[in-house]
Amino acid sequence: MSTASFFSKGLLDSGIGEVINPDTYFQTNLPPRTLPEDEKKVKEFVNKHNKAGRRIVLITSGGTTVPLENNTVRFLDNFSAGTRGATSAEYPFNSFLQFSLQPYSRHYTHSTNCFLDFIELKNDGHIEVISQYVPKMKSILEKYQKVKQEGALLLISFVTVADYLFLLRSVTQIMKDLNEHAMYYLAAAVSDFFIPSQKMVQHKIQSADGGLTLTMDQVPKFLKPLVTNWAPKGFIVSFKLETDPFLLVDKSRQALTKYGHQIVIGNLLTTRKQEVTFITKDSEPKMQLTEEEINNNIEIESKIVPELVKRHDEWIKNAQKENS
Ligand code: PMT
Repeated sequence: MSTASFFSKGLLDSGIGEVINPDTYFQTNLPPRTLPEDEKKVKEFVNKHNKAGRRIVLITSGGTTVPLENNTVRFLDNFSAGTRGATSAEYPFNSFLQFSLQPYSRHYTHSTNCFLDFIELKNDGHIEVISQYVPKMKSILEKYQKVKQEGALLLISFVTVADYLFLLRSVTQIMKDLNEHAMYYLAAAVSDFFIPSQKMVQHKIQSADGGLTLTMDQVPKFLKPLVTNWAPKGFIVSFKLETDPFLLVDKSRQALTKYGHQIVIGNLLTTRKQEVTFITKDSEPKMQLTEEEINNNIEIESKIVPELVKRHDEWIKNAQKENS
């Protein structure tokens, strides 16, 4: 959710920001160059795990950028590093993912958690993990190697909002035949505004003319076609972020009603790591970490994921009952 009221130079100003539908968006924007390769990987992954009778979860996570120039020097970004998705993928999901921060290695990639601080150079030239960090690293490494060995994780990356949307459409359509067995866990912070390629300047915006005012078009909401056409039988969970606690439940419920999917998980920017609200058709329970859990570094995703797996089980059972 990059914010809209940004800046532009006269020549960038497109007047009134337009609202287009998803089909028009795909017709007027370019797919990422790597899309065919990514689609091939996803097809192989889906076929392999589907044949083995495993359930597949698509996790989207991280922010999307919005370029300001076709030869992009500047872009708008948002706060999300993709922690939600990376963390969730470490709990029992059989998944593939798209995001910035990666599961397992996320523990050693933050600027405050640089991996170099966890290792030391010995006198004989060997490099070793510093002994106090071994237990935690060993446990993460074991899980990581198991997931790698089983090929249970496919990472697909995106940068811009267009990359994300083209990938989302392709991946959900590849997963469509999994019907009720597929889960879609949509935690990405997708920009709501963008500048269409044909309205963008080609080259780097020059600063010589002073300030900058931008008018941006609205990115169409893709949950609608996703729920209705791309993955109509899947178990779809979307996230809703707000900063105003008084808006959270109402806005989340509005999204659930509007798109007609199964769950909206509402979270607030400031408390998203400790508290979420599960909004379903007939309930809105809160899920919270206790003080003790927070002090013991328990992650809220360790509660979110099992709850969703349980609800997905029920979803599959109900679908099978209806089909029989
Ligand atoms: O990365 P972290 O720091 O861990 O933060 C995690 C998070 C706060 C980003 C995550 O938990 C979260 O809340 N993600 C959703 C952010 C959000 O509220 O997005 P939204 O209101 O723009 O969209 C709501 C839903 O609509 C999302 O599922 C989104 O994928 C979808 N959407 C959004 C824009 C758009 N054009 N089309 C869409 O379908």
